[in-house]
This record gives sequence, C-alpha cells and structure tokens, in this order.
Amino acid sequence: MAEIKNEEAKDKAFVEITIQPGEKIALCRCFKSANMPYCDGAHKEVPGTGPAIVDAKL
Ligand code: FES
Repeated sequence: MAEIKNEEAKDKAFVEITIQPGEKIALCRCFKSANMPYCDGAHKEVPGTGPAIVDAKL
C-alpha cells in the first residue's frame, strides 16, 4: 500500500509517496479531490483535466 509523507520546505508543501512494485495509484492534478493527493473523480467537473497514473510495474 502506498505510504504518504508530507513535508513543508520553504513556502511549498511537498508530498512524498512510496509505492510498492506492482502497485498503481492515480494522483490528482485538478486540485478538486477531497482525498488529496489521490484522485477521487472530482476532475469530471473540470474540463480538460484528469489524474496522473503512477504504475510501479513488476
Ligand atoms: S480528482 Fe483531481 S484529477 Fe481526479
């Protein structure tokens, strides 16, 4: 399961996610998700957006 680590550095927030081999996650790029940093489908209300799919293939 993905492990999330949030860090604050200088005036920006960073999210570091560690995923396991074979794991696949969808990251929000529209900033509308209620489950950040993950996509929850809220991008459907924002034309032209969608998640970033990260796939740690075996
Ligand atoms: S909810 Fe933001 S990309 Fe899906």
